[in-house]
Amino acid sequence: MTYFIAGTDTDCGKTFVASALLHRAKQNGTTLGVKPIASGCEVTEQGLRNSDALSLMAQSSLQLAYEQVNPFAFVPAIAPHIAAKKIGLSLTPQVIVEHLKSLPFAEVDFALVEGAGGWRLPLGEGAYLSDVVKQLNLPVILVVGVKLGALNHALLTQEALLADGIRIAGWVANIVDIAMSEPEENLASLEQMMSSPCLGIIPHLAEGDAVQAAEFLDLNLLK
Ligand SMILES: Nc1ncnc2c1ncn2[C@@H]1O[C@H](COP(=O)(O)OP(=O)(O)O)[C@@H](O)[C@H]1O
Ligand SMILES: [Mg+2]
Repeated sequence: MTYFIAGTDTDCGKTFVASALLHRAKQNGTTLGVKPIASGCEVTEQGLRNSDALSLMAQSSLQLAYEQVNPFAFVPAIAPHIAAKKIGLSLTPQVIVEHLKSLPFAEVDFALVEGAGGWRLPLGEGAYLSDVVKQLNLPVILVVGVKLGALNHALLTQEALLADGIRIAGWVANIVDIAMSEPEENLASLEQMMSSPCLGIIPHLAEGDAVQAAEFLDLNLLK
C-alpha cells in the first residue's frame, strides 16, 4: 500500500514521522519512501542531495537511485515553484504524476510519498501538489505538528483533504513544541475532531530519533 504523507505545515515532522512509519513497517515487510519535490538541497559531487530524501532512503528496504527518490531537487530552501522558476523549470502535476507512476511501489509492502510544506503546496500556474495526490488517488496520512495553533491547522487541513475527496487513512500527533501548555487537553480535542484513527502520539524526543519514534506508532490502526 502507498500513502501520501501530508502535514499541517512545513517543519511539523513529516520526514520524522515518515521515517518512523517506514522503520515500523520494515519490521514486518519491505518499504520504500520517496520525496519527489525538495528544496533546500546540498550540492555534492554526486549531484544535489536533500536530507529528507536521504532520511527516507535510510528506512527504505528497496534501494533506488537518488534521482528516482527525489527527481525535483532545488538548492535554495524556498517555495519549490519559485525555486523551479529560477532555473527555468515548470513543475506540473502531470510530470510529477508520470514520475511517481514509473516507480516500483507495487514491489513493496509499505510505501510513502512525502509531500512538501502543507497540503496546498503551490506548483505554479494554479496547480498544487494536492492535484498529484488526487490524480493518483493516494490515501493520506496526516502529520499534525502539535503546538499552540495546531487545532486550527489540523482542522483546516482535514477539511481541505475531505473536500478534495481524499481518503484519510490516519493521522499522527507529533509533539513539536516541548513547552506546550495543556498538551493532554489539546490532544483530547484533536482526537475528538479528527475523522480518522490516530496512529500514535510521538512525544518530543531529545535526539529526534526516528527509530525511537517508531515505538509510538501502530500501523494496524491504518484505515
Ligand atoms: N517528535 C519530535 N521530537 C524531536 N524532534 C522532532 C520531532 N518531530 C520533528 N522533530 C525535528 O523537527 C525538525 C522538523 O521536522 P521534519 O520532520 O523535518 O519536518 P517536515 O518534514 O514536516 O518539514 C527536524 O529537525 C526534526 O528532527
Ligand atoms: Mg520534510
